[in-house]
Amino acid sequence: LASVEVDVASLTPGMSLIVKWRGKPVVVRNRTEKEMKDGEAVNLADLKDPIARNANLPSDAPATDANRTTPGKEAWMVMVQVCTHLGCIPLGQEGDFGGWFCPCHGSQYDTAGRIRKGPAPENMAVPVFKFVSDTKIVIG
Ligand code: FES
Repeated sequence: LASVEVDVASLTPGMSLIVKWRGKPVVVRNRTEKEMKDGEAVNLADLKDPIARNANLPSDAPATDANRTTPGKEAWMVMVQVCTHLGCIPLGQEGDFGGWFCPCHGSQYDTAGRIRKGPAPENMAVPVFKFVSDTKIVIG
């Protein structure tokens, strides 16, 4: 299927679900206040990959916390949960940065899915998506 509709009504802050989209796991996470604040507090100069990697934005958009999400819905991370090193599936809410940790070779991602440490070269990808209502997202 080219696109997938996801009902996120049951996700309170701190909860995630994973859907399959084009054969890949896509995580939808309703971030906590702390996760958002941690993501916003990051100095862009500290990022290994300064590009947002958000398919909804120009290809050179900077990797701010807001640019990893969508306007008005900044709590929500929608992201292909595939490590940009060699394609393993990182674990959520693990590692030094409270985001994702890849058990294969130790890449660590922050609460906005940006690569912070380890061999992965890029932030995890944000796919084309949009909220079609307050509780429904269409991915793709
Ligand atoms: Fe994730 Fe190598 S595949 S660190």
